[in-house]
Amino acid sequence: MIRAARPADKQSILDLMVAAGLFVREALPPIEAIFDESFSEGVRAERRWIVCEHDGQLAGAAYYAHETVSDRVWNLFMIAVLPDTQGRGIGQEIVRHVEVELTSQGERILIVETSSLEDFARTRKFYIELGFVEEARIRRYYGDGNDKIVFYKALSVVPLDAHKS
Ligand SMILES: CC(C)(COP(=O)(O)OP(=O)(O)OC[C@H]1O[C@@H](n2cnc3c(N)ncnc32)[C@H](O)[C@@H]1OP(=O)(O)O)[C@@H](O)C(=O)NCCC(=O)NCCS
Repeated sequence: MIRAARPADKQSILDLMVAAGLFVREALPPIEAIFDESFSEGVRAERRWIVCEHDGQLAGAAYYAHETVSDRVWNLFMIAVLPDTQGRGIGQEIVRHVEVELTSQGERILIVETSSLEDFARTRKFYIELGFVEEARIRRYYGDGNDKIVFYKALSVVPLDAHKS
């Protein structure tokens, strides 16, 4: 079951991100700050956390937010599934949930960023299988030999150049 995260989910989500290998514990304070800020009035609608409960435990979580200087572009900044439950469709269910929600609200584009390292080959395959395409690559972004790859998905059925004359 997928539901909006609550403030009380914070520790479970942070533990999940560490368990999934997204972050080391030392890197958590800024993530914790982002989580806390997301529940303040005024930004709540544009910064969203969701969790997926599976067999009574919090098995997956994601954070996605509106790209401020854009026309209805959203960024799936974080997604993680507990290692023991990976490969069972939970990640896909989470991404589909995000896509359906944003599409129904008239949002246009969903992007997601990941690393070019071999360690992230399955993550890249995951996005490609979900219909994302590699849109941009920023060389050496995360370090020498570690590019940032931006994957892209149009949420709207309206062609992006439909308004050009
Ligand atoms: C990437 C991730 C969110 C995918 O969620 P998931 O529930 O494991 O994925 P699903 O079961 O819905 O989809 C399975 C597909 O995802 C891909 N995949 C990516 N990482 C995987 C993993 N560790 N285990 C199994 N499949 C994985 C494969 O393409 C797989 O398809 P296949 O079975 O044909 O090989 C999850 O594996 C994860 O948390 N990984 C570590 C953190 C991470 O890399 N997050 C993304 C950062 S940009």
